[in-house]
Amino acid sequence: MVKGRNILLGVTGSIAAYKSVEIARRLVEEGASVKVVLTGAAQRFITPYMFETISSNPVYTDMFSDPFSHINLSREADLFLIAPATANTINKLSCGIADNLLSNLWLTYEGHALMAPAMNFRMYRNSTVKKHIRNLTQQGVQFAGPVSGSLACGEEGVGRMLEVPEILEEAASLFIEKDLKGENVLVTAGPTIEPVDPVRFISNRSSGKMGYAIARAALRRGAEVTLISGPSALTPPRGASFIPVEKTTEMDKAVFQCLKKSTAVVMAAAVSDYSPVEVSKVKRKKEDSNTLNLKVNKDIIKSLGKKKGKRYLIGFAAESGKDIESARSKLMGKNLDLIVLNDISRKDVGFNVDTNVVTLIDRNGRIADYPKMKKIEVADVILDRIVKFKKGKP
Ligand SMILES: Cc1cc2nc3c(=O)[nH]c(=O)nc-3n(C[C@H](O)[C@H](O)[C@H](O)COP(=O)(O)O)c2cc1C
Repeated sequence: MVKGRNILLGVTGSIAAYKSVEIARRLVEEGASVKVVLTGAAQRFITPYMFETISSNPVYTDMFSDPFSHINLSREADLFLIAPATANTINKLSCGIADNLLSNLWLTYEGHALMAPAMNFRMYRNSTVKKHIRNLTQQGVQFAGPVSGSLACGEEGVGRMLEVPEILEEAASLFIEKDLKGENVLVTAGPTIEPVDPVRFISNRSSGKMGYAIARAALRRGAEVTLISGPSALTPPRGASFIPVEKTTEMDKAVFQCLKKSTAVVMAAAVSDYSPVEVSKVKRKKEDSNTLNLKVNKDIIKSLGKKKGKRYLIGFAAESGKDIESARSKLMGKNLDLIVLNDISRKDVGFNVDTNVVTLIDRNGRIADYPKMKKIEVADVILDRIVKFKKGKP
């Protein structure tokens, strides 16, 4: 999303300044052109040379070294990102003070603006700082964080700069059309697990990556998102209301609790088809019977199909091979609007990797094949269908 964009990265005097090197690096990696402006205090923490090397661009520190840099740099920028943003700089920018290159650029800048504050928790709760953050927010400035955590000074509290991937996520999201605004997308992700005894369970290899990508993409596009997830190592996207579950019965309960407020449902979870008939309260011994009696779990998506009303319902079919007929019969049999077929026999796509190759099959019989894509790109292709449906063009 930031590919081809001109990003002006302002760095101010906080210990967190070292993290902005990673921000610059990741932005460049994603194809953005990055120009960095450092305050005097920032240079006490980090050197311009570091950013020059990473960005392959000159780094700007002095208002008087070039008569027009304080205007030109902001004119060409698509995003002014200040990370970390100190209390001092936030307060100054809110008041329109222009006493260094960064604050002069701010006054002449008119595009997307994002700030990632970093400061001691007492500074952050200071009423003057709060007032200026409010003022800047009212002017349309987006704030990413801060969050609660351990601070450089050894204390704990709200003031820690948001982690780099999340700042980048917020930055990318500024360039995305909010075509899902007003929608409430319910996403399920990950596996469900069925206990056998207190230490063992049956489950599957789902990592949750596809569902989490759909949740992230829907948030970026302006939707409200509820993510119901089985056990996963992934961090839920910021802004989603997150419901962790384990068993199929728990996922089922959570889905139907959240159904009322949802306008579209994407069932990306790999729900266990079976669970043990009996769950032992104590660890089964090796010498115990080695037969596990299983019962079939409730088909959550099938019952959703009966109650979906006007919601757009999307299911997944993970098949060993590209079995269009089986996917189509699932689509019709479960009353889905769209089914996403993925071939899990390929090692490079599907479960536990960042890429997927999918075929979308809809109720009108249309079949669309897609090449190997990142899961976040697959997510957008899937969400495009919800947008089309809402526009009356399914
Ligand atoms: C070790 C150290 C760490 C600091 N960390 C922060 C910080 O995280 N956030 C903050 O608002 N100020 C912090 N300060 C204070 C700022 O550096 C100071 O307010 C400075 O004037 C900010 O200037 P600038 O906003 O122009 O970069 C720190 C100061 C020192 C000495």
